[in-house]
Amino acid sequence: MTSLTELIPAPSSVATPGGQGFVLDQATEIQAARGTWRVAHWLRTTVGAATGLPLWPHSSSENHILLRIWPPLADELGGPEAYRLTASGGTVVIDAASEAGLFHGAQTFRQLLGPDVFRRAPVTSKRAWEVPAVTIRDAPRFRWRGFMLDVARHFMPKDGVLRHLDLMAAHKLNVFHFHLTDDQGWRIEIKRYPRLTEVGSWRARTKFGHRASPLWEDKPHGGYYTQDDIREIVAYAAERHITVVPEIDVPGHSQAAIAAYPELGNTDVIDTASLSVWDNWGISLNVLAPTDNTLRFYEGVFEELLELFPSEFIHVGGDECAKEQWRQSPTAQARIRELGLADEDELQSWFIGHFDKWLSARGRRLIGWDEILEGGLAEGAAVSSWRGYQGGIAAARAGHDVVMCPEQQVYLDHRQHAGADEPVPIGYVRTLEDVFRFEPVPPELTPEEARHVLGTQANVWTEVMEDRARVDYQTFPRLAAFAEVAWSRLPAPAERDFADFERRMAAHYRRLDALGVAYRPPAGPLPWQQRPGVLGRPIDGPPPNR
Ligand code: ACM
Repeated sequence: MTSLTELIPAPSSVATPGGQGFVLDQATEIQAARGTWRVAHWLRTTVGAATGLPLWPHSSSENHILLRIWPPLADELGGPEAYRLTASGGTVVIDAASEAGLFHGAQTFRQLLGPDVFRRAPVTSKRAWEVPAVTIRDAPRFRWRGFMLDVARHFMPKDGVLRHLDLMAAHKLNVFHFHLTDDQGWRIEIKRYPRLTEVGSWRARTKFGHRASPLWEDKPHGGYYTQDDIREIVAYAAERHITVVPEIDVPGHSQAAIAAYPELGNTDVIDTASLSVWDNWGISLNVLAPTDNTLRFYEGVFEELLELFPSEFIHVGGDECAKEQWRQSPTAQARIRELGLADEDELQSWFIGHFDKWLSARGRRLIGWDEILEGGLAEGAAVSSWRGYQGGIAAARAGHDVVMCPEQQVYLDHRQHAGADEPVPIGYVRTLEDVFRFEPVPPELTPEEARHVLGTQANVWTEVMEDRARVDYQTFPRLAAFAEVAWSRLPAPAERDFADFERRMAAHYRRLDALGVAYRPPAGPLPWQQRPGVLGRPIDGPPPNR
């Protein structure tokens, strides 16, 4: 049994009326009302697997878990993802405004049963699974509670992605931003352009550590998701009430695509046919040519993407597009003149604006990194504010929706301790407490402007994370603090009770242990987690150093 005060993220309210609670045992049934069978199935495959109990789908026993959807609860409890969980008199009732709310309630129920219930197989026979008498009312603060994973710099095979979706769900996160393409790799099968994966998904070698490091991993690295893999990932996410927002990064961060199809690059500036998928970190100067051919090519890519991803938002990147080649390219300069544009920044706006209109015409919405503000923000576009709060503030003031993910706060590739034994320490020191005290809505915004902050997102860039264990180390435990920021209605940063959060984390580490998460232990990395000799480059202030 977990104490009622050990939940993460913290719920809106917990009332303890006393009296009889609930005991999960051989007799327990799941009574699934209309529209709740998927949540019942999830409970059976998780709680059922960990306890070895049958969780019968009948409705005769007093000992039952009753699942119900009741939309008016949205008004009573604070939004469409709200739920109310009551354990009393030997039963558990989870009422929710929607299936998503019910799923969040089921996640809370799992936490209440204790850390062993996070295992995949029963390890302890003959034990009691108890929940004390309680009523929990809960609803999220933000509707976009995001996690971004960069699978371009280091590929993560599909089972690792599915595992992250489970980990997101356990933390009540609901948007998976899937960074699928970059200079160092193209990770999604596009049927009409097979070379994107045949050529673009592999690189010959990889810089090991920060880009200033002299070390190389001299072996090919790569991989990609077939369209069937993607369909499976999207469906698995949907069962967990997670929306997958795919990112195809244009017009910068495109060297892998140019290596596959050299005509996409600025052929009048460099010999793009000699380019290969990039083996180093940083910002490649090889960007897309602003030609009709490029637009048509990417329309083809996005057409296949829309077939695979039902999300309202489609991420088009737009970050860190080096303008050197456009400045030198007669073709790009002619386009600037022909369109009556002032400069290369406006050329980037035109490029992004094209896909904004293209996506809008197909009932979708464009989202991009905050550089898409430069040279004019495309109408209807939303912004991922990563270079601090300023882009998000400007966008919200202009009436655009914003996801706050400032690199100074929620880039989880940045080291989480100043100690010398942090593995490949890059970026700012951002501790668990720093993330816990992150506030997504800057005080400069009026309440009206703040309504444009859809939510917040933690971003995991994987240049220095070559495998799952490294991703786990950087992501956890900080993602737990981030989840609390995104879900719970916390006081102002300085007033947040970090001591209480740490106390709850003691229970949460046991949940993560049961889930097999290789988090950073509070006392520092374990010997096998250290990477002595691999160069990172810590910084104490801007600019970012990846
Ligand atoms: C980014 O970190 N370049 C979005």
